[in-house]
Parts: sequence; C-alpha cells; structure tokens
Amino acid sequence: MGAAAEPREPSTIPGMSRPRVYLETFGCQMNELDSELVAGQLHALGYRFVDGPESAQVILYNTCSVREHAEQKVWSRLGELAIRKQDDPALVVGVLGCLAERDGVALVKRMPVVDVLCGPGELDKLPALLDNAYRTRRSLLADRLTATDADRRSASQIALQGNSSRRSATLAAAQDSLEMLDLSRATSPLDTIDDDHPTAGAVRKRSAYVRITRGCNKFCTYCVVPFTRGAEVHRPPEHIIDECKKLADAGVVEITLLGQTVNHYRFEHGAAVTIGGVVQPQKGRSYAGGHRRDPFAGSNVTTFADLLSRIHEAAPTVERLRFVTSYPRDFGDDVLEAIRDHPRICRYLHVPAQSGSDRILKLMNRGYTVSEYLEFIDRARGFLHQPEKGRPLSLSGDIIVGFPTETDEDFAATIALVERARYKNCFIFKYSPRPGTTAYDKLADDVPDAVKRARNNAALEVQSRISDQLSREAIGQTFDVFVEGLSRMEEKKRERPAKACGGGVALTIGGNVIHSHAGVASGDEDDGGCSTRAVEAPSDEVSGTTQLSGRTDGDQIVFFDLPSGASADELVGRIVPVRIERVQRLSLFGRLCGRAEPVR
Ligand code: 5AD
Ligand code: SF4
Repeated sequence: MGAAAEPREPSTIPGMSRPRVYLETFGCQMNELDSELVAGQLHALGYRFVDGPESAQVILYNTCSVREHAEQKVWSRLGELAIRKQDDPALVVGVLGCLAERDGVALVKRMPVVDVLCGPGELDKLPALLDNAYRTRRSLLADRLTATDADRRSASQIALQGNSSRRSATLAAAQDSLEMLDLSRATSPLDTIDDDHPTAGAVRKRSAYVRITRGCNKFCTYCVVPFTRGAEVHRPPEHIIDECKKLADAGVVEITLLGQTVNHYRFEHGAAVTIGGVVQPQKGRSYAGGHRRDPFAGSNVTTFADLLSRIHEAAPTVERLRFVTSYPRDFGDDVLEAIRDHPRICRYLHVPAQSGSDRILKLMNRGYTVSEYLEFIDRARGFLHQPEKGRPLSLSGDIIVGFPTETDEDFAATIALVERARYKNCFIFKYSPRPGTTAYDKLADDVPDAVKRARNNAALEVQSRISDQLSREAIGQTFDVFVEGLSRMEEKKRERPAKACGGGVALTIGGNVIHSHAGVASGDEDDGGCSTRAVEAPSDEVSGTTQLSGRTDGDQIVFFDLPSGASADELVGRIVPVRIERVQRLSLFGRLCGRAEPVR
C-alpha cells in the first residue's frame, strides 16, 4: 500500500466488488492505531468503509481483553451477528486484537459466526485472511445447496502469534512483518477513508498516534498484555522519525508516541538486523532498574531521551509531542531534561501507580515501592512543574482496587497515594481476573464485588475533589488549546454521531461511539479498555452558539464558544489561546482570547 495509493478493485476478493467493511474498535490507543493502519491497508486494496454494521458485508471488531467488561461487549455483538447470519450467510465476521490472541480457536468454537481471527501481532496478514474467508464462505454457501448450514459454520481463517508470542532471540532477528504495516501507513494530507461521507472525511488530520514500542516485558500479575501483544520490541528510530516527518508534512500538529512502557524505548544500532534493506525492530533488553540515566546511552544507541529530541528537531511543525504510557521505574533524569529543554514536548505524564500499598505492589509484580513511586513524582515535578512560566506539569494515573487480598489498610494507603500524587485525573479500575495471568492462576479473587465497588466509588470521590481543585487553579489563566472539534453537547444538538478514525472506523467506549481523539471515561470500569485520556465530560451548557472542545498542553479539556463570524472548520485542528472563566470537575470553560484567528 503506497501513501498515495488510489483505491482499486481488490484482486484479493474475487467476485466481490469493493466490499463494504464496518470496523469497530474497543480499548486502548494502541488498538485505535492498529485499526487506523488496518483501515488504510484495506482501503488501499479497494475495500469501502461504512459507518454502521447494517450495510456491511465484512464486520470486524478490534478487541480488548484487559478487563472482562471490555470483552462482554464483543460477545454480545457476536451473538447479534449470529442471528443476522441466518439471513445473510455470506457475511464475513472477523475478530481482531487481544481477545482473538488470548482465546484463539476456542473463540471460534464458542462463536462459529466468526470467520477470521487475527491477533494484534498478525494484522499485516488480514487482507489474505479476509480473501480466504470470503472464498470459504462462498463454498459453504454452495454446500448449503447440499444441506450444509453455512450460517453456522466458520470460515476459520486464523492468524495468531500463539506460543511464539514470547519471541526468542532468534525469532526477534527474523523479519518483523508487522513493521511493514506501520511503515505502509498512508499519510495523505487528506483523510479520505470515509466512503459513507466522502466530503466529511476529507479533512486534514491534525492529530496522530505513532507507535515506538510494541509489547511488554513487565508481566504485572493481573495483566494480559504481555501475552496478547508479546515481548517488548522497539522500532528503529529512523522509521519513527520518518513517520513523524511525513505526518507533519501532511499537516499533523499533535503526535502521541505509543508504547506499553513507552519510556523503556531504546535502539542499539550495533545490534540492528537488516532484512531486505529494512532495519528490523529490536527486542527490548531486560535489566535491573533504578537508574537515573539510560545506562546504555552512547553514540551507537538511541535512548528514549534521544528519540524525543530527534523528533522535536526533525518535525518542527509538530506543536505538541506527547507519549503514553510511562512506567514509573527507570524514568531517567535524561528524559525529564529532554522534556524540560524542548518547548514542544507536552508537560503531561501518564504514570500508573496501580496501588499505594507496598504489599499489593509486590503481589502485582510492579517492581517498585510506594516511596520509589513518590520519589519519581517529586523528581518529575522538580524538573517540570513551572506554573510561573505557564508550564505546569500535569500527571495522570491508573489505580486498581480490589486486587486479591487487598485490605481496608491497603486501600487506605492507595487513597493516601492518590491524595499525595494530585493527579489531574486518575483511571480507577476494579480488579478483573484475566485468564492466563499469574494472578488468575495463583490468587483467589477474594475481594467481594460490593467492596470493590465501594472502594472504586470512594477513590473516584477523592480524585474528583483533587481534579476539581486543580481545575480551579486554571481560572483566570490563558492556555493554548488544541481544538479537537465540536463538543459532545454540540454534536448531540446537531444529532450528528461523532465519527472516528477516518470514517467507518467507530471507536466505542462501553458501546457508545466517541470522538477519535476525545478520550475515554475517567476512572471507571465501564470503558471498553485501557485508553489513557480523560473523557470529555458532558457540558451543561445549552446555548445558541456553537461550542468547541479542545485540550491544553497538560491534557486538560477546554470548552469555548465559537465567536460570531468565525467558522468551526477554520479552528478545528488549530491551537488557539483560551482564557478560562469557570470550571466543572475535569472540564474548563473559557473564551477565545483576542483575535478569532488561530495562533498557529
Ligand atoms: N483488572 C483491572 N484493571 C486492569 N488493568 C490492567 N489489567 C487489569 C485487570 N486485570 C488496568 C491497569 C492498567 C490499565 C491499562 O488497565 O490499571 O494500567
Ligand atoms: Fe500490563 Fe502495563 Fe504491567 Fe505491561 S507494564 S504488564 S502493559 S500493566
């Protein structure tokens, strides 16, 4: 797939003219990016994207299995499709992502409506799988003439990493075909993957995710990610920088670098493997933590701090460079210095603590103590909290309540940590036992659900108070705000469903379609996965004017009215100055300052 590839009739789908695809995404930013790449790839092959499942001939769910709630949504969608397939046996159904990888063929056995299973490490194979699935469905349909129940049989096209997900050194040196999916990313200045609304989709894309690391080596005992996404591998810096430059040339002004433990990024050039002229991603090195600077830094190594500096330099039109999610241990001063010294790197860190009890942290295998975590927070604030210069540091966290054996004392320690950390927002999750994890195998889920719920609510209350206090400090201040679009309230007023990811790629949280970059529910377990941006809180304003929403450098959500005479299209995707007049929990309400024109 080339960047400027014209849609063509897919050679891969014989007899099926430009199949209509509906792709729905659950979960984290990594999944959002995967969906965007998959959509780009299929679009270039001639598939058309539609924004609802009704008219689709191919329905794909990109799934999340980080908590049970995220999975249930998918199961219920599949149940509905099983009924639909009785009348529409040619329908091709695919489950992509973490749920596919975790459950494997058992998923197809349970839900034969599923024709294609594709793990997150195999997404480059999706076009071939869909092609085979389509052919197989056609032969099943032919068989139906001879009394086979086509609607109840899966086409069984499966690509999973399976046991090789923990790559050995040898496997790591083999060609990483997934890298080709990242490399083939379409960075056309116009985002046109919207076949239902070709003109609506033809807007400049101003905000983008760029993957720098895949997988995770941490094995927190509650977490499925190391099993579903495999071992940590780092992309070559040249690929990342090139992608950032291309996105910048296409008009992107905000880039969020993605990795499960993003600050662990390191590329050792001396150990690089090149296959077919393409430098391959490199397996992450395990080492005892606790350092203040990357111990491997040197002329032949690109550290995370180096990478940030290089992107900052190479893409000067990118006004905002962010990264998620950071692992609190091993967060070096070198990275903090890079953030401090580069004005376009946002002063925003998402650094999950998970618990405030040392005993629970140990059971979680988090690899740090509460005092080490707090030392990091203080150090980060020492380097980066400069409100007097208009550059405060904004922190967000994740907390799990009700982990096995968690007592009232452990929970009280977590509340103390939340009070001390003063997060801008904190995502609070009830522990959800995940098959395949160590906690699932070794620790009974012994905290009753009512207790989990009560702790969840209590922690949310504390965090709400802190968020509210921090928001109040913003009153009277002027912030540069990256305008993301119409506020949710405005969308509702216009009865226009928010669309996402270039059309036909709906991002859903708890079954609700959300903005592509508006983020997700803060601190509850009802979200579809593990995205790490606070949700746009419903605005209580009902006015005759148009309300826009955007974000500060510190990721605070800002609402403001479009001044009369200005057009929303002109401002969306721009950074504009907004003076804050009042606040409501996580949301700041303000007025566009001075001129109606964007500052950038
Ligand atoms: N139960 C509850 N929360 C979990 N998370 C990850 N796994 C689980 C689980 N089994 C949360 C962690 C993580 C976020 C992405 O999701 O807080 O940081
Ligand atoms: Fe999961 Fe994050 Fe722990 Fe990795 S570091 S195992 S992704 S919680």
